[in-house]
Amino acid sequence: MGIRKLQTNTSGILDIEGHQIELPVIEGSEGEKGLDIGRLRANTGYVCVDPGFVNTASCLSQITYLDGEKGVLHYRGHPIEDLAENANFLEVSFLLIYGEMPNPTELKQFQNDIAQNSKTTQFISSIGKALPKDTHPMGILSSLMVALSADKPELVKQDLSADERNLAVHHIMAQIKNLTAMCYRVNKGLDFVPSDPGADYVEDFYTMTFKGTEHESLSPVVKDALNTLLILHADHEQNCSTSSVRLVGSSKANPYASIASGINALWGPLHGGANQAVIEMLEQMHADGGGYKKFVEKAKDKNDPFRLMGFGHRVYKNFDPRAQIIKKACDKVLNQLGITDPLLDLAKGLEKEALSDPYFIERKLYPNVDFYSGIIYKALNIPNQMFTAMFALGRLPGWLAQWKEMLEDPKMKIGRPRQIYQGKSLPSEEE
Ligand code: SDX
Repeated sequence: MGIRKLQTNTSGILDIEGHQIELPVIEGSEGEKGLDIGRLRANTGYVCVDPGFVNTASCLSQITYLDGEKGVLHYRGHPIEDLAENANFLEVSFLLIYGEMPNPTELKQFQNDIAQNSKTTQFISSIGKALPKDTHPMGILSSLMVALSADKPELVKQDLSADERNLAVHHIMAQIKNLTAMCYRVNKGLDFVPSDPGADYVEDFYTMTFKGTEHESLSPVVKDALNTLLILHADHEQNCSTSSVRLVGSSKANPYASIASGINALWGPLHGGANQAVIEMLEQMHADGGGYKKFVEKAKDKNDPFRLMGFGHRVYKNFDPRAQIIKKACDKVLNQLGITDPLLDLAKGLEKEALSDPYFIERKLYPNVDFYSGIIYKALNIPNQMFTAMFALGRLPGWLAQWKEMLEDPKMKIGRPRQIYQGKSLPSEEE
């Protein structure tokens, strides 16, 4: 499966210093339009400047489609609402990576391929045991992900065959579940629990995490909530962490190095780290006892670095469909578990207050995927500082799908952005 040649049927004309150059238009399958500036510098000596890549597409992709104005999110053409309701995480992982929903035989084979790669090696366990108890889970995930390359030295090379790429997919899908469970065990000072190759993916993760603790029995409500949360986090086109996976992968670094770069980018509080920051913000508001209004004012104050975590998004300028699904799931899961969490009411009040405030309305700031997710993770007895690791567990199939799509693109080039130099000017020849 390569990138389909998209129709370029019209072009833009750029007039620079009296020179006109044609910029072909590339149109996506959902009508998005882009200007192909591949020849811009060669023809004009100019480059484009776009800090944060707000207006710049880094690639052509067939995996995920977002419409930020309409709050639309599709994985391989399947609406996220449908997948969250009717699919399980392993089916969605297969869909993202291979392009179609698996039939029963393909799903069984995928489960077996993952199961065969699910054993935790002695050296990974010993590294995990050597980490200090309070190591942040994202630091555990990142270091063990790179260490995993020692488990498959045959994948640490410049060019991987299709079979080798599939082995990387199966091995990393299997191991991220083990490593995420190990985060909990390291932080609680507990022994590691081996994977059960015959278990369902989510059940295996849950048992490896909670076995021997008061939370060890997995109820259907919790299993369902975990599946939904993992599906909702599975991919999101060219976000910061996925772009990091692609950039590192474009140097033909091995899959472990590429995925570890995604884990590291996701750790940031402006990205995946926001889910932990949201719950800490809500806990601070709750402890403060003064309600949320003063925090909304703080978020609006340009002299105050405080931001309403879980609010705003580079692409969604309307609602984030994932946040809507998670918000509904909060009520359902907490009711089914018989939990009342004051942070949920606080979050709902904060959302209502912010969405009626001109500052947020003018800037089109809505709750994003991280705003409510922590409330469910908390109800599932997942510690605050493991929330971002849970995001990584969910996002892993998306990272692998994007990495694989890039490597299978015959036009793949190493990523190397340009810059505009504004430093000291060089001494002129006369001087
Ligand atoms: C994720 O890209 C993805 O797809 C990411 C993700 C995924 O699935 O991979 O969806 C996951 O990362 C979700 C986002 C999680 N981050 C947060 O919740 C952190 C809080 N939000 C922000 O810091 C911010 O909204 C970003 C980082 C999400 C988006 O930043 P942008 O697009 O660069 O927007 P910006 O910082 O330029 O803000 C535009 C304006 C500014 O005000 P003005 O200078 O125009 O007056 O909006 C303001 C900002 O100050 N603003 C906020 C705000 N977010 C933006 N003001 C207060 N609180 C906020 N949360």
